Amino acid sequence: MASSVANTTSSKRRRLLLLLAAAVALTILAPPPVSALRRRAVHLTVYVQEILDGPGQTEKLLIKGPGPANPSLWPPHNYFGDTIVMDDLVTEAVANNSKPIGRVYGIYMTASMTRPVYTVSFTLHLTAGPYNGSTIVMAGIDDDDMGVREHAVVGGTGALRGAEGYVFGIVKPFTSSYVVMELDIYMTVPVPVPRPKARAAAASPLITDQ
Ligand SMILES: *[C@@H]1O[C@H](CO)[C@@H](O)[C@H](O)[C@H]1NC(C)=O
Ligand SMILES: *[C@@H]1O[C@H](CO)[C@@H](O)[C@H](O)[C@H]1NC(C)=O
Repeated sequence: MASSVANTTSSKRRRLLLLLAAAVALTILAPPPVSALRRRAVHLTVYVQEILDGPGQTEKLLIKGPGPANPSLWPPHNYFGDTIVMDDLVTEAVANNSKPIGRVYGIYMTASMTRPVYTVSFTLHLTAGPYNGSTIVMAGIDDDDMGVREHAVVGGTGALRGAEGYVFGIVKPFTSSYVVMELDIYMTVPVPVPRPKARAAAASPLITDQ
């Protein structure tokens, strides 16, 4: 009886030691949490060329919403749920013949039944400059009653992996079917830390197979 109690106690202790060793190993091997990484600031200002109608149109009605008609908006895109898909050229300056630096792909949807509010989700794919090939993912709401729109930068890819921040959107209407959106993007991205070299698994005299 007594020896069986002693056995149980020692096997409990062994299990506890194993758990402790596993916890220590996990702590050593796990990458540092993202919040602990150093981040650097990135600021970009780009111009989105939106052609809403006519030749070279870059935004189209994808889904006609079920309604009701939103009294704060003008036809034809004034129904609750109206959803527009966009494939807009992005340029370095406001002029549409300035240097092309990427495209914006995304959607916006009339999300209020009464107010001029859209839900938006779009991705900027950069095709020039130091972030060529990288993307910035942005989302939020557009409220036409607000002077400046603000969206969240919710992520990024490539050289902008792990991006976080915010973006101000300023609408510059040229005609009823041609609008330029200035995007002022403020974000931080993690600075990659070199991984510590894996230590050679040294045979320890303290660890024996039993
Ligand atoms: C480019 O912008 C000019 C005005 O700055 C405008 O007249 C022209 O239609 C625009 N071109 C396109 C393709 O939108
Ligand atoms: C951007 O990257 C692509 C793919 O690597 C390359 O083909 C293209 O020439 C680059 N563009 C610029 C402007 O550097």
